[in-house]
Amino acid sequence: MCGIVGYIGQRHATDICLAGLRRLEYRGYDSAGIVTADGGRLDLRKVVGKLDRLAQALDQRPLAGSLGIGHTRWATHGKPSEANAHPHLSCNGRIAVVHNGIIENYQELRRQLEAAGHTFRSQTDTEVMAHLVEQHYTGDLREAVRRAVRELQGAFAFGVVCADSPGELIAVRRFSPLVVGLGNGENYIASDMGAIRAETDRVYVIGDDELCRITRDRVEISDLELRPVRHDVYVIPWPADAAEKGGHKKFMHKEIHEQPAAMRACLAGRLRSADKPVTFENIGLTPDAIRGIGKIVFTACGTAYHAGVVGRFLMEKLARIPAEVDIAAELRHRDPVVPPGTLCIVVSQSGETADTLEALRAMKRKGAKVLGVINVVDSTVARESDGVAYIQAGPEIGVASTKAYTLQILTIALLALHFAEVRGTASPEELRAIKESLLAAPAHAEELLRREDAVVAIARKHFKKTTALYLARGVNLASAMEGALKMKEISYIHAEAYSAGEMKHGPIALVCPDMFVVAIAPQGPTHDEMVGNMMEIKARSGPVVAVAFDGDAKIPQTGVDPAADPRDVAAQPNDMIWVPPTHELVSPVTIAIPLQLLAYHVAELRGEHIDQPRNLAKTVTVK
Ligand code: F6R
Repeated sequence: MCGIVGYIGQRHATDICLAGLRRLEYRGYDSAGIVTADGGRLDLRKVVGKLDRLAQALDQRPLAGSLGIGHTRWATHGKPSEANAHPHLSCNGRIAVVHNGIIENYQELRRQLEAAGHTFRSQTDTEVMAHLVEQHYTGDLREAVRRAVRELQGAFAFGVVCADSPGELIAVRRFSPLVVGLGNGENYIASDMGAIRAETDRVYVIGDDELCRITRDRVEISDLELRPVRHDVYVIPWPADAAEKGGHKKFMHKEIHEQPAAMRACLAGRLRSADKPVTFENIGLTPDAIRGIGKIVFTACGTAYHAGVVGRFLMEKLARIPAEVDIAAELRHRDPVVPPGTLCIVVSQSGETADTLEALRAMKRKGAKVLGVINVVDSTVARESDGVAYIQAGPEIGVASTKAYTLQILTIALLALHFAEVRGTASPEELRAIKESLLAAPAHAEELLRREDAVVAIARKHFKKTTALYLARGVNLASAMEGALKMKEISYIHAEAYSAGEMKHGPIALVCPDMFVVAIAPQGPTHDEMVGNMMEIKARSGPVVAVAFDGDAKIPQTGVDPAADPRDVAAQPNDMIWVPPTHELVSPVTIAIPLQLLAYHVAELRGEHIDQPRNLAKTVTVK
C-alpha cells in the first residue's frame, strides 16, 4: 500500500521521481524518500510526513544524479518514522530498494541475515531485501535481485539501484502492481501509469515473477529463470493532464465533477438508445453461459461493496438471478456454498485490493466463474478474472472514491440489462424505462452539479456536528451506506447508515437536535414508508436533510404554504436536496452526487485534508 517510482536517463532523477510520487501520494502519505546514484555513491533523503516535507528537504539539500528511485509510504510494518521510510539501504550503503507490498517471511529472513552479520536500521519488512541483495551481489545486480526474490514470500514490486552499477535500474514484481514507462534515452518504473503519464504514454505492464533490467536505452524483461518475456507496448488512452487537478482545489472535487463525462464514456458503445439491446465485449460470457447462471455473488470492499449492494437488486429484479453481496474480507471466512453455475462479480476500482483478490481466488477455487467490474486496466483482478467489464472512469486519485462508484453502478446496471435481455426475464417496458434513466444519467449529473450551491448551504448548517444518520430503504440503502462512508472518511463526523425500517429497533434513540439525519426518499416502492420515517425523526426534534425527486408533493415542503397547519410545518424536513426524477432502481447513480458534495463541503468547512484523509490509503494492498 505504498507507491514506488524510478527513473534512468539524462535528466535530474529527483525531479521526475518527486513529480511521480506526487501522483502516487494517494497510495500512502505517512513518509517518503528518494535515493539517487551519483559519482559512484548513493545519496538519500527521507522524511516523515507528506511529500511537501520531502520537497523542502530536497530544496535544502538537493540530490544530483540521473538514476533514482522514490517511495511514498503507508505504514504496515513499523510506525511512520524516518528510519522506517523507504528507500532502504544495505549495510554498506551501496544498494537501495523501494518496495510496495508485504514480505511475509521477513522475520525469519531477518534472523538469518542478522546471524550472517547484517545490521538492520528499521522495523520494516522491506529492509531484508536490501540486505539480501547485498548478500547475493557479486557484480551483477539483476542476478543478485533474482536470487534474493527467490527467497521471498509475499507480495512485492521492487525498484533496486546499486552505486556500483549506475547504468541500470532493476525492478521485479509479484502480486503488487508495476509498470515500466518507455521514453527516448530514458525509462521509468512506477506503481501505476498515472505516476508517469506526464512523461510518457507508452508502458509495459509487468506480470508476476517478472524481472526487468532497465537502462537509458533498453528494457529487458525476463521470468525468474531469465527466459525473455515479450510484452506489447500499452498506450495509455487518457491525456497527460487527466491526473492533474485541472483548476479544482481537490482531486475529489474534480472527480465529482468529471462524472457526467465519465458516465457518457461508460455508456458509449454499450447502450446507444432505449430501443437497442445492451452490448458488451470481453466479458467472457456467451449467451448460453449467461442463461446458465444459477447464482451471482458480488464481492468487494468499501465503496465498491456498496456498488455491489445496488448490483444485487438489479440482478435479482431484472435478470431474475438469485444474488448475494458479501464484503470481500468476510467472504472467504464463511466457506460459502458455491453451486455449479455461480458467477462471482468482483467490483474494484484499483483491481489490487488484497481482500478482494483473496475473495476472488477463494471463489475461483470453489468453481465460480469470475467477472471483474474494474477501473484500472490490466490490474491483478482484471488478469485473474475470466472476463472484465471496465468501468472506464479514467484515473481516480482522490482517496475517497466518487466517480468510480457511480460508474460501477452504471456498469453493473448495463450488465443486469444485458443478462435480462439474453434470459428474457424483464418486460420491454421495464427494460426501456431503465435504459432511458441510464441514458439520462449524465444530464441529471450535470444538473446536480449545477445545484452544488444548495448543498454548500446545507453543509454550512451542519458542519460542526459530530454525528449523522443516513436512512433509506430498498436499493437506496446503498446510497445511505455510501453517503455515510464519504462523510466519515473525509470529515471525520461519525456517520451511520441504517435501513429506515431498523430505526425503531434501536438507533432512533440517537436522534436529537445536535445531530442530523439524511433521509433518502426517491419515489418508488419505498417512498411512502420513508416519508413516514422522516416524520418520526422530526417528531423527535431530529434535523432532517431529505433527498427527494423534484416536485415530490408528498414531502411537506418548507416555505411553500405560510398558512399551513403547524403540524405540517413541524413535519417539514429542515433541508431539501432535490434530484431529477429517474427510475428508482438506478437512482443510486445520481443520488450519490449530492451526497458526495455534502461530505466534500462539510470536510472543506472543517478544514480537513480531503484528498488524503488520515489513516487511509487509496489502494489497500494488505489484508
Ligand atoms: C472509500 C474508498 C474505499 C474503496 C475500497 C475498495 O471512498 O475508496 O472504500 O472503495 O478500499 O477499493 P477498490 O475499489 O480499489 O478495490
